[in-house]
Parts: sequence; structure tokens; C-alpha cells
Amino acid sequence: MFLITGATGGIGRRVVRLLRQREQSVRAFVRLTSRYSQLEHRGAEIFIGDLLEEKDIQKASRGVKYIISAHGSDSDALSLDYRANIELIDQAKANGVEHFVFISVLGADRGYEDAPVFKAKRAVERYLSASGLNYTILRPSGLASNLLPLVEQFRETGLYLLIGDRKNRTSIVSTDDLAKIVVDSVTVEGARNQILPVGGPEILLREDIPRIFGRIFNKQPVIINSPLFAIDGLQSALGLINPQIQKALGTYRTLLANEFFCTKDEIANLEAIYNFQLETLETFLRRYLTV
Ligand SMILES: NC(=O)c1ccc[n+]([C@@H]2O[C@H](COP(=O)([O-])OP(=O)(O)OC[C@H]3O[C@@H](n4cnc5c(N)ncnc54)[C@H](OP(=O)(O)O)[C@@H]3O)[C@@H](O)[C@H]2O)c1
Repeated sequence: MFLITGATGGIGRRVVRLLRQREQSVRAFVRLTSRYSQLEHRGAEIFIGDLLEEKDIQKASRGVKYIISAHGSDSDALSLDYRANIELIDQAKANGVEHFVFISVLGADRGYEDAPVFKAKRAVERYLSASGLNYTILRPSGLASNLLPLVEQFRETGLYLLIGDRKNRTSIVSTDDLAKIVVDSVTVEGARNQILPVGGPEILLREDIPRIFGRIFNKQPVIINSPLFAIDGLQSALGLINPQIQKALGTYRTLLANEFFCTKDEIANLEAIYNFQLETLETFLRRYLTV
């Protein structure tokens, strides 16, 4: 039995789908407010709970062989990105779990002081590596599925909002490829006890993204390039109303202000370990769009 947290998220729902296609038994940790009917139709066991509650994590972990931590947080990095994962790891040990897969983030080890999610991920990575469990820590760059709403907007308007440096490099990864990597991590020998950066096969400039959109729809993109200090202004203003959201924006700003890409060697290593070729962003988008 696999326990998947974040089972309704961009990565999690693809992981559940793939595991069910492979006829594996899956327990999907969802909230009552989550949209989980599709997971149920695929034959996943639905566990309703809240990752903010230790006792829910304890119950959900009973009798599972593998744990895949794929949940995220909007603004509560301490409770969700940190504490919930620590509890999952403790429960994995208590239940004799054979392999724990943790979705971290590219750059978790760079010490970004104002990005609570990055700090939580790094602390969890350390805790997991020292736990004695078999593990795989995956550090993805941006997910291609995040761009699906933007590409739909672009189809209508031809506009693309780009905040920060348009020349910053990124390696957007196909969310379907990432799901396959997650699932295969529990069986592939080369993935055991590894920390792996995960990106797509090409290093893109951020301005390449609207160009790809333009190519797909045969439309010249209009790029609205807003400077990073627009976020700083918003962050200061929000700080007066809600300090927690202000801190969460620190993670967002870090993502916009820095480069997140994998080297050619890192991608070659990933393809060798998992024995398949990663798809490009354009291929991913074309598969999802009916142009
Ligand atoms: N998105 C990216 O570009 C990216 C890049 C690198 C790393 N990552 C990491 O990858 C992981 C998954 O990201 P994603 O984009 O797939 O996530 P996502 O689409 O934002 O989904 C987040 C998931 O977490 C669940 N969740 C949030 N709070 C919860 C709670 N209190 N109790 C139970 N479940 C809760 C959500 O459930 P509901 O459906 O109920 O909201 C949802 O299933 C995260 O750890 C993220 O940090 C993401």
C-alpha cells in the first residue's frame, strides 16, 4: 500500500493515476474540502484528514509500505512543509515503511533566508537522510502543469506577464515525467538514498516560455515585463495586513528572483537512473491542448 499526501495536487493526482494504472494499492490522503472523486473512481482508498493534525497522519500511515509526500502549503510552511513531513517520517519509521519519497524543491540547499518553504524543505531533507529509512529526495524545478492556466489565457489574449529578469534560466519539468520518477523511485536501485535535482531536458530562458506559447498557437506573444520591485511593494503592503502572507510571498519572490535550472549532466544522470527520455515543455503543453 502506498500512502500519498497532496493526492489532489498537480503532482499527487498524477502519481495516484500512474500507481492505479499499474494496479498498485493506494491510500490518498485528502481533505474533506479537496476535489477527490476522480481519485476514488480510479480505485484509490480515500483517507479524509488534515495534515495539520498529527493523529490523522498517524492513522493514515498504519499498514503502509511506501510513503510519498507530495503535499504543499499556501502560507503555512512551518505546519505543512515542516511539521507534517517530520511526523510522516516518524510514522514511516514506526510502521516499518520500506521507502519514503519526498518532493523537495530545486535550490533547497542554497540557504535562501527569506523563503520559508525552502528552509522547511532543507530541514526535512536532513531529517529524512538521517532517519535510517530508505528514501529518495526529489528536487524539482518549476512544473509544466502550472503553466496550463497561463497558456489558456494566452490563447485568448496573446498576453504573458513576466515578473523579474526575462533572461533568468529555468528547467521546467513535465509533471507527468516527474510523477513517473516519483513512482519508480521506490524500485529503481539508483534512486535509493539519493537527492536528485529534477528538470526538463532543456535549459530555457524565462522569455522562451511565451515564445513557446506563441509557436503553439501561431501567435506573436506580447510580453508584459514587470520589475521585481512590484512584488516588494506588494509584500510590504500585505505585511501591514497579514504578516503570514507577507512571509509566504518571500518564497514567491525567491522563485522569481533566482535561476532554477538543472545542468545537462544532471539531466543525463536522471535519464540514466530512470531509463527514459524526459519530454520538453512544448511536447507537454501540446499533449494537453487541443490546438
Ligand atoms: N508547483 C511547483 O512548481 C513545484 C516546484 C518544485 C517543488 N514543488 C513541490 O511539490 C509538491 C507538490 O506541489 P504541487 O504543485 O503538486 O502541489 P499543489 O498542486 O499546490 O497541491 C497541494 C496539495 O497539498 C494538499 N494540502 C494542502 N494543505 C493540506 C492539509 N492541511 N491537509 C491535507 N492536504 C493538504 C492540497 O489539498 P487540497 O486539494 O485539499 O487543497 C493539494 O493536494 C510541494 O511540496 C511543492 O513544494 C512544487
